[in-house]
Amino acid sequence: MYETEHGKQGSARGERGAEAAPPPESVNVADKLARIDSFWNPHIVGDVNDMHIKVVKMRGSFDWHHHDDEDELFFVVRGTMLMKLRTGDVSVGEGEFIVVPSRVEHCPVASSEECHVMLIERKTTLNTGTVETERTRHELKRL
Ligand code: NI
Repeated sequence: MYETEHGKQGSARGERGAEAAPPPESVNVADKLARIDSFWNPHIVGDVNDMHIKVVKMRGSFDWHHHDDEDELFFVVRGTMLMKLRTGDVSVGEGEFIVVPSRVEHCPVASSEECHVMLIERKTTLNTGTVETERTRHELKRL
């Protein structure tokens, strides 16, 4: 049997992971979104290293902003989103995603009546970036 320098294969992970945290479970994104009754109010649904997985319901237009250091991934779960950019607008359909690099000004708009989106971004990311608006959310709920 193959042995690592620690004596047993996988022992380092087993000692820490199995006892400290509950086992991984599947997450139903639509179910999480169904629990949200407000718009432009991101909720945290997962953690991946230094990233948060968030879900948000969009209606109408957000506010123009950029992030100095963080890229943002927007994955459209339901509906259609128009990502306004200074270089031209990009339509993002259901099942599609767009990555907005740091420093790029953007303004997401729901081009269907409602648009449901999953976000993947660093935990430090503020939803309105470097500007403060009535939609800025400093404290996010976890579902
Ligand atoms: Ni942004």
